[in-house]
Amino acid sequence: MKRIVTLLFLAAVCTSAMADEGMWIPMLLGRNEADMQKAGMRISAKDIYDINNACLKDAVLLFGSGCTGEYVSPEGLLLTNHHCGYSFIVRHSTVEHDYLTHGFWAMSRDQEIPCPGLTVTRLVRMEDVTDMVLEGVTSQMSEGERSALVESNIKKITAKTESGTHYKAVIKPFYYGNQYFMYVNEIFQDVRLVGAPPSNIGKFGGDTDNWMWPRHTGDFSMFRVYAGDDNKPAPYSPSNKPYKPLKHLEISLSGVQEGDFTFVFGYPGTTQRYVTSDAVELDANIENPIRIDLRTIRLRHYNNAMNQSPAQRLKYASRVASIANGWKKWQGETLGINRLKGVEQKQAFEQRYQQWAADKPQYYNVLQQLHNAYSQLRPIEVELVYFSEAVLASDFMNRANTYNRLANNDNEEEVAELVEKLRNNNEKYFADFDQHTIVDRAIFVETFLYMWKAGYAPYLGETTMTEAAVEKRLGKIYDGSLLNNPEKINAFLKNYTVKKAAKLKNDPAIQLYSQAYALAYDPQKLAQYRRAEQDIRRLMRTYVKGMMEMQPDVNFFPDANLTLRVAYGHVAGFRPKDGVYYKPYSTLQGIMEKENPDIYDYVVEPQLKKLYNSRDYGRYGTADKQMPVGFIATNHTTGGNSGSPVLNADGRLIGLNFDRCWEGTMSDLLFDPDYCRNICLDIRYCLFIIDKFAGAKHLVDEMTLVQ
Ligand code: ARG
Ligand code: ASP
Repeated sequence: MKRIVTLLFLAAVCTSAMADEGMWIPMLLGRNEADMQKAGMRISAKDIYDINNACLKDAVLLFGSGCTGEYVSPEGLLLTNHHCGYSFIVRHSTVEHDYLTHGFWAMSRDQEIPCPGLTVTRLVRMEDVTDMVLEGVTSQMSEGERSALVESNIKKITAKTESGTHYKAVIKPFYYGNQYFMYVNEIFQDVRLVGAPPSNIGKFGGDTDNWMWPRHTGDFSMFRVYAGDDNKPAPYSPSNKPYKPLKHLEISLSGVQEGDFTFVFGYPGTTQRYVTSDAVELDANIENPIRIDLRTIRLRHYNNAMNQSPAQRLKYASRVASIANGWKKWQGETLGINRLKGVEQKQAFEQRYQQWAADKPQYYNVLQQLHNAYSQLRPIEVELVYFSEAVLASDFMNRANTYNRLANNDNEEEVAELVEKLRNNNEKYFADFDQHTIVDRAIFVETFLYMWKAGYAPYLGETTMTEAAVEKRLGKIYDGSLLNNPEKINAFLKNYTVKKAAKLKNDPAIQLYSQAYALAYDPQKLAQYRRAEQDIRRLMRTYVKGMMEMQPDVNFFPDANLTLRVAYGHVAGFRPKDGVYYKPYSTLQGIMEKENPDIYDYVVEPQLKKLYNSRDYGRYGTADKQMPVGFIATNHTTGGNSGSPVLNADGRLIGLNFDRCWEGTMSDLLFDPDYCRNICLDIRYCLFIIDKFAGAKHLVDEMTLVQ
């Protein structure tokens, strides 16, 4: 095992293959330092990550479980995206106090709103623990034996590290388990909402502009982290004090120019840079089209409802945002992959690999075996996509899932608890059922029908049946189910005992759900699926190891895995298509150009218009009286990087990462420097909104601004 580590190390000291591509490990940033400085960086790798001194790393946090945030004041004030704080803003919003629509600003500390369940995580230090994790692992072991040993080693190492501290340790595999790093973290539990702009700033352009450039979204929100008297993490308490971070980011007011060096420091979630042509084909050309079609159906119905009343808008806002986000990204991804001829590109690489491996017994089989494993995986994976995107599309079927669990539970105590919960849920669920049922029924019928037509719901009837007959059948199931009858289901639950399970099991909803489930999760198929997955994991480990031996001059970055990374590049425009060049920045003028009071996504706040008309931008505007809003750069980012600080050559905050350009969303699989751009909120717009728009200058005063 030692050998692998040495090889990896050798592979990694050489320079990066493709400019701008890569999400680098902070601890190993020394290897990129020269390249970064050549690209314009004026600080050192140690200023970014250093375990002995406070450094930029101490200001960058995992926000919740899938975003990034950063400290911008010595008083624990934190910036992240509006869409990252979204669910907390929604949670505290009602039709009377609608913070989502109108914004929220705590004018004093006691107005800051606790957010139970929200945590922020600071990395204390990281460590290469490959040798310890792989201790005892031999090449003769089966994958199952290997995993079991690795897991037990990991448990021992993390337990030993955590013992006697308040730290939490996690160990994650890199390069498909060729290397392991341990992350020692500190988790803060008292996080409070401090500020959020109104939706028509924080989400300006909505899902219409999402994933697109030019962009004008003021995608930020603010929180404050609180700690115990000792400045250590503590559960919420009114007596907690604002946390004093080891480091907070300085903010640059000097703005960005095309060509400027930038880096993004944050928590990218998942990339699949090294997968084979089969995996790219499966993702881009088989799964994405199915997911896109099914989500199109759901979005059509939700959007209709949302256009009918503010209450319905609030009701569906959060779920539509998340459904639409994947829906749009996958469209861009598939187009991008095909534009790049991604599958063919991978195939060509595989051919070269095969030639290289011809005389290397440990590698020459691996691609064929991977191909076989994907053949096993593919049909089942497609069924699982149908299950999650079609069967579980409606609330109706999600409820059927829950009631099915009830019907199959004979533990009296658990049943009593579940029934109690269901009764509470029903109260909320049926509150506006008449309206909701129109939307939910239509979604249920259409998604199942789509699946049936594609041959994935044979239990609905023979293919010789007419579509109208199947549709009628689905309608009958919806209308005939106990689950959709408020009076009956409540009465039924009131006197529920395990003896009544049979009646539940006979309900048409549960019958249908069970049939769909039995088909997708057939134990034999599932076993085949798990085996294929395991094989792929094992084979990818070998394949990637070979790839690194084959290209000893390439500095391979490990796929994103929700650990802290640095991506670097330049502020740059791009050509999305023939005849079009996108400049790398947008301004408030663009917001005025997009303004349309009749379209929800493009309503402009009167107060913002006033500031625009008087060009009242204070110290945040440019010398030529423009108010910058967004910019794009060539940093390699992905989901999870939202809220990440975008820093300049001096390590000062110039923006907040929040998105990517649509033409480059294939970057999780293939990065193309001509098309891949991350989208950032210009920090000057953020400060302008806080100070000039919201009148919350006290928050800006906490920060460290540098001209
Ligand atoms: N596309 C961005 C990301 O993946 C922003 C998503 C939130 N915005 C939205 N309009 N749904 O997170
Ligand atoms: N919008 C994404 C996020 O929430 C970022 C991206 O996918 O580029 O992390």
